[in-house]
Amino acid sequence: DWTSAEILTEQVAAIRERIGDKKVICGLSGGVDSAVAAALVHRAVGDQLTCVFVDHGLLRAGEREQVERDYVAATGIKLVTVDARERFLDALAGVTDPETKRKIIGREFIRVFEQAAADVSQSEGGVEFLVQGTLYPDVVESGGGTGTATIKSHHNVGGLPDDLTFALVEPLRTLFKDEVRALGAELGLPSAIVGRQPFPGPGLGIRIIGAVDAERLEVLRAADAIVREELTAAGLDQDIWQCPVVLLADVRSVGVQGDGRTYGHPIVLRPVSSEDAMTADWSRLPYDLLARISNRITGEVTEVNRVVLDITSKPPGTIEWE
Ligand code: XMP
Repeated sequence: DWTSAEILTEQVAAIRERIGDKKVICGLSGGVDSAVAAALVHRAVGDQLTCVFVDHGLLRAGEREQVERDYVAATGIKLVTVDARERFLDALAGVTDPETKRKIIGREFIRVFEQAAADVSQSEGGVEFLVQGTLYPDVVESGGGTGTATIKSHHNVGGLPDDLTFALVEPLRTLFKDEVRALGAELGLPSAIVGRQPFPGPGLGIRIIGAVDAERLEVLRAADAIVREELTAAGLDQDIWQCPVVLLADVRSVGVQGDGRTYGHPIVLRPVSSEDAMTADWSRLPYDLLARISNRITGEVTEVNRVVLDITSKPPGTIEWE
C-alpha cells in the first residue's frame, strides 16, 4: 500500500526524468483531476509548465476565481486564462437540442484551447508535452494505450507550425479518484478543489432546458449558488454525489408575490447519491433545508417563482436533465 507522500516523491522523479528541460502545457477544467495532475507536474518542473484555463461562460459562480486565485495561490502555477464567453454564447445562440449543445461546446473548446496552446508554444519557444488528468478507470475504459495529441492551429499566425504535436504526460494513470484526492491534499491544494463534486464539461449549458443566453445563465448561476451555499452550510457536501440545478427556461407558471401576479420560470433541484454515477438515487434532503433553499431562490432570484424537486432514480432518469 502506497502512501500519498510516496506516490508524490516517485511521480515527481518520474516526471522530471521524462520532461527534462522541455516545456509543458496543461488545460485546467476546474475539476479535481486536471488540478492535481498540473500541481504534480508543477512540483516536478516548476515554471516549465504553463496552464491554460478556458472560461466558456458556462461556469458556476466563483469557479473562475477559484482557479485564478485559490489554485494559483496554493501552487504558484503560471496560468493563462482565455475569456471565450462571447464566442461560446454566439455559437450556442438558439440551440436547444442537448447533443447539439454538447457538440458545439466540445468543438469550440478544442478550437480555443488549440489557439491558446499555439500562443503559449510561441511565447515559450516550443512546447513538447501536454499534461492530462487521465485516471486508472479512464485508462481501463478506453482500452489502455498512451500516446500523443495533435493540435492543429486553424488560425495560423505568422511563424507558428501548422500542427502542434505533444507527447502526453498522464501522471494519474495508475490512480483511483480517492487516491487522486489524497495526492491533491498532499500537494497542499485547497479542500474546495480536492473535494469538488462532479460537474459536467458543458457546464450550465446543459442545465438550461431551452436555448442558452446570457440572461438565462445569470438566473441559473444565482440559483445554483444559493443551492451550493445551503448544502455546504448544512454539512451535506460529503453525503451528496452532486446536485444539478436546472432552469426550465421555456416553461412559465403563474405565481403571486406581494399583491402582484408573477409569470416566472421553475428551477429544478436534482440532488443525488451515487457511487459511480452509473446508477443514482435521489437524496432525501431534510425538509427544512429544502424549504430554506426554496424561500431563498424565489426571494432572491426574481425570474424564478417556483422550485421543484426531482425524485427520480437513475435509471430511469439520468443525473443531468440533458
Ligand atoms: P448522467 O446525466 O448521464 O450523468 O446520468 C452521469 C455523470 O456524468 C456527468 N455528465 C457529463 N460530464 N460531459 C461531462 O464531462 C458531459 O457531457 C456530461 N454529461 C453528464 C454528470 O454530471 C454525472 O456526474
